[in-house]
Amino acid sequence: MDLLKKVIENAKIYQKRIVLPEGAEPRTLRATEIIIQQGIAQIILLGDPVRIKKVADECGVSVKGATVINPATDERRGHYADKMVEIRKEKGLTKEQALKLLDDPLYFAPMMIKSGDADGELAGAINSTGDVLRPALQYIKTLPGVSVVSGAFVMFVNDPAFGHDGVLVFADCAVMPDPTDRQLAEIAVTTAKTARAIVGLEPRVAMLSFSTKGSAQHPLVDKVASATKIAKEIDPDLMIDGELQLDAALVPEVGQLKSPGSNVAGKANILVFPGLESANIGYKLVQRLAKAEAVGPVLQGMAAPINDLSRGCSVSDIVNMVAVTANQAAAIFK
Ligand code: ACO
Repeated sequence: MDLLKKVIENAKIYQKRIVLPEGAEPRTLRATEIIIQQGIAQIILLGDPVRIKKVADECGVSVKGATVINPATDERRGHYADKMVEIRKEKGLTKEQALKLLDDPLYFAPMMIKSGDADGELAGAINSTGDVLRPALQYIKTLPGVSVVSGAFVMFVNDPAFGHDGVLVFADCAVMPDPTDRQLAEIAVTTAKTARAIVGLEPRVAMLSFSTKGSAQHPLVDKVASATKIAKEIDPDLMIDGELQLDAALVPEVGQLKSPGSNVAGKANILVFPGLESANIGYKLVQRLAKAEAVGPVLQGMAAPINDLSRGCSVSDIVNMVAVTANQAAAIFK
């Protein structure tokens, strides 16, 4: 877990402003106390200040040092609404509709970031992934040159023989239900960048399928093979191989047998799954059955760092993800 320690230590240096829209949620308040005590980030809690104080008191925590903002009454509402209308003018958004949307902290938070009033956002302890992501996709949008937002998990497995000394990155476990070959290629390239930035590993990307190098014929296999080709065109220096079955990706003997001469097969540290179903199920299988630590989803490809929590998250998950968000903010807003 040295990596997580490093991410937290870096966050302490960056002192980024992270907005937490679920300001009156008990785990969020407990995490806020820890983050402030340890100096990991500056925290902005959204919600009714009276309610936030009441829940904090009930939890026996102090959030002194956090900035509390009520989206329903904040003086910046008019300014944010004008910005929203400008961004969504082609969709016909009116100022009245924008002001109503701003009552929802999940819309207020991205507008804070868009206006330079916060550096990153973390939510999802009580809201679905779709509800956290939709406002971000609509108002923050993607990084230049990127068309797809996706979600990666950094997986810490208990066997250093796998991945990069037991660390692997899985994608897309959170966003695109059924990516096209081009979208899958973009997910592979973006995940390699995330892995370099957060884990500091040299990416070896396996494009997963139920087939290895034509062992099965099916349109789903063709999609992964095509995605591999497109990813090589986007980033010719990337070490990537596909389509590969999971054992060919991870086990050296199987990899050399099924994809001889590959610089990825048998030693992959990034696993790109063919779709959201397999990726989401896959990371949870490894997390639950193999007792791996799963950090994420780290959302990638967005123009500012907005991350989503699982509703089953713990207080320490929130602390860790605030630190990850701060590191991403430092990378994006250098
Ligand atoms: N990357 C970039 N932009 C996107 C993406 C994407 N992956 N997906 C949607 N958009 C854009 C659309 O182009 C659209 O833009 P526009 O309004 O400017 O035209 C906007 O975002 C909204 O898109 P819609 O498709 O209308 O919104 P929808 O709500 O249907 O879909 C969403 C987006 C929420 C991400 C949806 O794909 C979704 O729910 N995905 C699954 C999330 C999920 O449940 N994950 C599993 C749980 S996570 C976990 O377990 C850790």
